[in-house]
Amino acid sequence: MTALSLDTTKSVHSCKKQSVSHGLKLQTHPTKSSHIKMESTTSAVLSAVTGTVAMTAAYAYAQRDWLKDQWLAFISPAIYNFLKGTTREQRALKYLKEHARQGDPDSVLETFDEFCRTQEWAMNAAEEKGDILDEIVRELQPTTCLELGTYCGYSAVRIARNLSPSARLITIEVNPDYAAVAREVVKLAGLQDKIEVINLDSADVIRELKTKYDVTKLDLVFLDHWKYLYIRDIKLIEEEKLLKKGSVVFADNVIIPGAPGYLEYIRGSKNYKSTFYSVHFEYMDDMKDGVEKSVYIGDE
Ligand SMILES: C[S@@+](CC[C@H](N)C(=O)[O-])C[C@H]1O[C@@H](n2cnc3c(N)ncnc32)[C@H](O)[C@@H]1O
Repeated sequence: MTALSLDTTKSVHSCKKQSVSHGLKLQTHPTKSSHIKMESTTSAVLSAVTGTVAMTAAYAYAQRDWLKDQWLAFISPAIYNFLKGTTREQRALKYLKEHARQGDPDSVLETFDEFCRTQEWAMNAAEEKGDILDEIVRELQPTTCLELGTYCGYSAVRIARNLSPSARLITIEVNPDYAAVAREVVKLAGLQDKIEVINLDSADVIRELKTKYDVTKLDLVFLDHWKYLYIRDIKLIEEEKLLKKGSVVFADNVIIPGAPGYLEYIRGSKNYKSTFYSVHFEYMDDMKDGVEKSVYIGDE
């Protein structure tokens, strides 16, 4: 985007130069002045517009996976929601209620995957990403888990179904409509005693985990909210001293839409040992994404 605006400025700048040279002509041919002035303004506008369109197209082409993600996650559902008068999340919930077995987390997840493959795409940490998440939970056997970004509760169910009886997951969702759907999905899976869905901004909850939510340390943190917030919130989690040796921080979408600042931070920190996994973007066989698993090895 920066390159785009810089180049646009360049083209506008060159257009300005053009009108200056036309300006000199004005003094020698006063009768043609208004005609020349109009021509130069039109050509300046035209070249600015053409330049902007060309650069936007080039940028979009270079970032086509990012663009596809934006289309899938926000643009197409907005159009579809407008036409249908319901939201994608409500349609997903309806499908789950009609097709999944009550009290069966596996059935809820399978049905959600089916919805996303056959009806509408949704931003769930599914398929290869979900398999890695399952493996982490089974290996780590965490007692206290935190998820940032619940959406409809798919990954919350995926995590909680593998937790031991005394373990719990706190999951935070800023959007009240998504949080309401997630609570119903959690209930449908029969996991309401293990999962607490909190409808607030992640930063506000992180600051209160010790005092209000009775958390001492986190064994597993799943970062899956807006990508630019990963770095803010991992620093907040560190400040609050919520990690201990062996805590795992698992971050989704580090390639698409991408979290370059977070990757630079976590990989450069002596407090973490990080591993990157190249995986497919959920429900998309022709798009690659990545997830990053970071084990905390720093001071508690
Ligand atoms: C990719 S979706 C989460 C998907 C979910 N983890 C899953 O795999 O089923 C990201 C979610 O993060 C939420 N979100 C974004 N910023 C947030 C914040 N500051 N606090 C809490 N939730 C946030 C969005 O509303 C969205 O529902």
